[in-house]
Amino acid sequence: MASMTVNGQALQYRLDPQTPLLWALREASNLTGAKHGCDDGGCGACTVIVDGRAERSCQLPLSALEGASVITIEGLSENRSHPVQQAWLAEQVTQCGFCEPGFIMAIAALLQASPRPSAEQVAALPNRCACGAQLRILRAIARAGKMMAEAAA
Ligand code: FES
Repeated sequence: MASMTVNGQALQYRLDPQTPLLWALREASNLTGAKHGCDDGGCGACTVIVDGRAERSCQLPLSALEGASVITIEGLSENRSHPVQQAWLAEQVTQCGFCEPGFIMAIAALLQASPRPSAEQVAALPNRCACGAQLRILRAIARAGKMMAEAAA
């Protein structure tokens, strides 16, 4: 059993402790925003925010998450779209959309820590897009960072 908070709701998963968080979210909680891509930590499609950090949920066993706070794309923003989601739309980033939730979660965590991230920080994002939307993603990061910095001022 593992107890944690998911999108602000206290949950207990009565699953094998080695179950990856990705599958607990998708199968037990019906939170299917985090995607199953590579299953080896390389694509970032399964990214969620755990205790404020972007994490690849396919690589996190429930046993490592006792007491953790998990945010998925479904819980990223309560009443209106998160600035990263707004920037995503404004820059028309979406192509096939498969990588989208993972990217948005990773960027949201990055911008929360650093609204004007360096090129190295952006390049270090553990997310991949196979459609060729990288330039639009970079523009969305800059736009969202500006929005978040202005909101914090
Ligand atoms: Fe988790 Fe690819 S499915 S990193």
